Amino acid sequence: MATLYRTYRPQTFDEVIGQESTLTILKNALLQETVAHAYLFYGPRGTGKTTTARIFAKTLNCLTRQADVQFKKKSIPCNTCEVCRAIDARHALDIVEIDAASHRGIDDIRELQDTVSSLPSLCRKKIVIIDEVHMLTSQAFNALLKTLEEPPEHVVFILATTEYEKVPATIVSRTQRFHFRRLTLQEIRKKLSLVIEKESLTCDDDALSMIAFLADGSLRDAESLLDQMVHLQKGPITTEAIEKIMGRVDFAKIVTLSEHIIHNDLKQTLSFLHEIQQQGHNIPQLTKDVINHLRFTLSLKSNPQLEELFSKELTPQYLEVLKKHAQEIETEKTIRIIQALITAHAQMKTISLPALPLELALIEHLGN
Ligand SMILES: Nc1ncnc2c1ncn2[C@@H]1O[C@H](COP(=O)(O)OP(=O)(O)O)[C@@H](O)[C@H]1O
Ligand SMILES: [Mg+2]
Ligand SMILES: [Zn+2]
Repeated sequence: MATLYRTYRPQTFDEVIGQESTLTILKNALLQETVAHAYLFYGPRGTGKTTTARIFAKTLNCLTRQADVQFKKKSIPCNTCEVCRAIDARHALDIVEIDAASHRGIDDIRELQDTVSSLPSLCRKKIVIIDEVHMLTSQAFNALLKTLEEPPEHVVFILATTEYEKVPATIVSRTQRFHFRRLTLQEIRKKLSLVIEKESLTCDDDALSMIAFLADGSLRDAESLLDQMVHLQKGPITTEAIEKIMGRVDFAKIVTLSEHIIHNDLKQTLSFLHEIQQQGHNIPQLTKDVINHLRFTLSLKSNPQLEELFSKELTPQYLEVLKKHAQEIETEKTIRIIQALITAHAQMKTISLPALPLELALIEHLGN
């Protein structure tokens, strides 16, 4: 069975979520025939760089677009002509994709230069997509730079990277740059809902939020997590099932534990911790999650305007809890607890009883 993220890779610009200004500029360039020789797509993994590069390649070369003036105005690929289909099936000879993580050397770039020196066969322009371009060796970068300085008319380069700072400035300055941003929780939920509907899966609303949160801004990660859930268990996707498979504790439990800590209730804190431990959860991860919760709470208390920013990353329900906790906490004490938890987390690596440092930290700071 094909993986979900391959099956649901967007085929047109309209299906790409977020990245609005990037898409507008690219569509306009296609419309006005002002396509650059080289682009640099940068930003975190799973945000649409490769996807956008392929849609761009299709649109630029789509045969229907070249034959039909009205259709051309839409700046979309037809997805049915010979070129579109070849690109979708990944056997278009004029579209060259190389992964610089595994093809880093000067010889790889020389081979590429050979490939692009001849005219395209079926396409108007050859498109060269170099993924993880920051991985190239310095020699390879130099060779690439020569090509970018005098690019063949019939080639468009699309360089993609998750580590912009590692791409030499000389290369960067030869490209038109586009930043691909992390997707928000709501955007990830939207795409996941679509996949869930198309695949006729059953998934709780809370479970959906949990997957979206764990994906940490990456749609590929979100779709992979969903994939794992589908393959590793039968039946509806629930927060309990995710907890079991991912070793992560559900929000509700993190909130409850944090609340006991915030209320300075040592007894409840320890018995709840014991319960979580009995369920076999990953204690270092739990500690991190609690640290994060307290950290968000503290930030929100210090600057209530952060609410707007947080609303993009968190569910409305969770945000309400944070606001409530922000009113309840005492700044000084919370800072001390966070510091103690950070120390406890570090100690967990050296001891085979991960819950012990956590318990000690809590006993030391609560109940007085
Ligand atoms: N902006 C987006 N809109 C919709 N789906 C996306 C988006 N970004 C990523 N995806 C999903 O994640 C998968 C991987 O995306 P990809 O474009 O390869 O990410 P990147 O190249 O930025 O690491 C796609 O197949 C698609 O299912
Ligand atoms: Mg990619
Ligand atoms: Zn087409």
